[in-house]
Amino acid sequence: MVFHGSVDERASLHEEVLDRLFVEAHTTNTFSDEAVDPAVIAEVYEDIRWAPTQMNAQPLRLTLVHTSEAKRRLGPHMRPGNRDKTLAAPITIIAAWDPTWHHHLPVLAPHREGAREKLDPDPEARREIGQRSAYLQIGYLIIGLRAYGLHVGPMTGLNPTGVDEEFHAETGWKTAVVINVGWKPNADDAKAIRPRAGRLSFDDACQIV
Ligand SMILES: Cc1cc2nc3c(=O)[nH]c(=O)nc-3n(C[C@H](O)[C@H](O)[C@H](O)COP(=O)(O)O)c2cc1C
Repeated sequence: MVFHGSVDERASLHEEVLDRLFVEAHTTNTFSDEAVDPAVIAEVYEDIRWAPTQMNAQPLRLTLVHTSEAKRRLGPHMRPGNRDKTLAAPITIIAAWDPTWHHHLPVLAPHREGAREKLDPDPEARREIGQRSAYLQIGYLIIGLRAYGLHVGPMTGLNPTGVDEEFHAETGWKTAVVINVGWKPNADDAKAIRPRAGRLSFDDACQIV
């Protein structure tokens, strides 16, 4: 059997890019003082929207929490250990999934005739498909933010019902992950990152059959 492609293709991508996206990318608690323009997040979104999703459903919905007034509304719904760093982050993204993602199917999946009508009475199928693909899109979002030089602190330590009541009352979106976003933390900030913990090796996590 001949295996080919991956090593050559990796070599053609700059080592620097791979390091930024993967090897040196670190979850961070703090950021530099520089503001993040929501327009930068819009640019990131333009790129990450090409992620594959089931039925091309694209159920991910984002709320950019940018003003101090909006941060004040988010704070009480974060777990105490996540609260201060969320209030201090230049921008915080509430990543959610839309239970009515199927309304867009006539445009997003015109080849699936009647799919919207079939899913209308089936909220459980919409939840399963919507959550699955939204989490996949969130992975793309994290990598996309890093590709633009931003740093991220994803969190699930929060009260999703409270966040939904506060920010999604009109849309019905369901909070999945909240992500603090900003520019590279100051080098002398000891609280910014934790020392890297272990990662499973290929042999630990994979099988070849
Ligand atoms: C879905 C998800 C939820 C997380 N929730 C929290 C959280 O509530 N609070 C927190 O401080 N870190 C949280 N983290 C951060 C992880 O602990 C961190 O990404 C992981 O330990 C890897 O750290 P590293 O990137 O520095 O190697 C979360 C990460 C993910 C992806």
